[in-house]
Amino acid sequence: MSTIDYSEKIPNNVDLANDKTLQRALEHWQPRFLDWWREMGPNDFASVDVYLRTAVGVDAQGWAHYGTVKMPDYRWGIFLADPIADRTIGFGDSFGQPVWQQVPGEFRSQFRRLIVTQGDTEPASVEQQHRLGHTCPSLYDLRNLFQINVEEGRHLWAMVYILHAYFGRDGREEAGELLARHSGDVDKPRILGTFNEPIEDWLSFFCFCYFTDRDGKFQLKSLAESSFDPLARTCRFMLTEEAHHMFVGETGLGRIVRRTLEVMKEAGSDDPEAVRRQGAVDLPLLQRYLNFWFSSSLDLFGSEVSSNAATTFANGIKGRPDEMTQYQDHVCADSTFEIEIPDGKGGVMKDTSPMRNAMNEVLRDAYIRDCEIGLKRWNMQIKRGGHKFELKLPSNRFRRAIGAWANIPTDLEGRPIDREELDRLLPGWLPSASDKAFVRSLMQRVVEPGKMAAWIAPPDRGINNLAVDYEYVRLN
Ligand SMILES: [Fe+2]
Ligand SMILES: [Fe+2]
Repeated sequence: MSTIDYSEKIPNNVDLANDKTLQRALEHWQPRFLDWWREMGPNDFASVDVYLRTAVGVDAQGWAHYGTVKMPDYRWGIFLADPIADRTIGFGDSFGQPVWQQVPGEFRSQFRRLIVTQGDTEPASVEQQHRLGHTCPSLYDLRNLFQINVEEGRHLWAMVYILHAYFGRDGREEAGELLARHSGDVDKPRILGTFNEPIEDWLSFFCFCYFTDRDGKFQLKSLAESSFDPLARTCRFMLTEEAHHMFVGETGLGRIVRRTLEVMKEAGSDDPEAVRRQGAVDLPLLQRYLNFWFSSSLDLFGSEVSSNAATTFANGIKGRPDEMTQYQDHVCADSTFEIEIPDGKGGVMKDTSPMRNAMNEVLRDAYIRDCEIGLKRWNMQIKRGGHKFELKLPSNRFRRAIGAWANIPTDLEGRPIDREELDRLLPGWLPSASDKAFVRSLMQRVVEPGKMAAWIAPPDRGINNLAVDYEYVRLN
């Protein structure tokens, strides 16, 4: 197993000390990253002590060290999962051939685009969550927010390393641009839509972690299959950290549901107004937030049918999540995939696409199945509480801005409806201005160790076997 050298300016397990040119280039990028962190990250909390985990190895057991750090002193480093001996290409036209240690010239621009797009999302989310610390529901949650923020910063490092090490001058320029675009910026926005959406409250934050970080999981899983081995290894290690981000989303939303059920029981009513009077989130309101973040995140997978998706698969650039264990046919040269598209007459029709062209949809389908797991769990809680209400994911045709269903008005079940009907019904399906104002009114910061805001139940356990009431962030 490779070890990480922490005596270096940039902790790494890629033997940076033996590549002086690369080391210098990255050491030149480092202060620019720190400037960006100060300007765009959770800098109002720069001087507080946070109980954080830091990667200290890539071994599945014991890869992280837990300790108290001030965020600007976090050791952002470059960590690749250990190479798999004799790894061969797992999909596409070159199936079975040895993986690449360098980027083949003919695939360079496709690789660069994918890496830049992935890299762009990492700092974007830190920017989106920039001010959330001020309204944390507990110190436990505040710590989780900061843990996610520093790790997204590290994921940016992961992509910047690949750009610098394998893409020459273009790569260095792209690495600079990753710090120049900003979430929601009118002139220089982040590349993908969802990463320009503001995250102004913790309900949105938990939805983002649940839905949008999960898109990240699927993108990373498919890049972890890549024939370009350094990229695959980088993504494999990122996934280790990413799991916590989804945990924060899933448990965060689960705790909100649990608290709401308690309030409904106390009030003896499931009337949203009664729930709101007790300072909790009513379930229909939660449903509208789920509708918003789920539908926005679906677009991140791209068009249902895409020649780009076909070439990246054929060329061995981007595979499917768990390619080896989930699929039998790894070449997909003549298989097909059935998709549903608008029939142009206000209805839905089935269409058949070559499998390779439908890879975005294959990925999106797997993502949707993964999203359903949490909903099943929350619905079980609701049912056990004796309530009829059921949380649902809207159809993958609802409110899409990309692909066959882009700008086609549908209801939550994906049935095409006319535009007037949509305009009339949409405010009931998405968070309204008054929903947002109500959620904002709940966002009062709670920083007494172990105490929780009234709208969220405590977690089942603390971090790294510590108690829930441990002082995870010392605000001094
Ligand atoms: Fe990430
Ligand atoms: Fe993440």
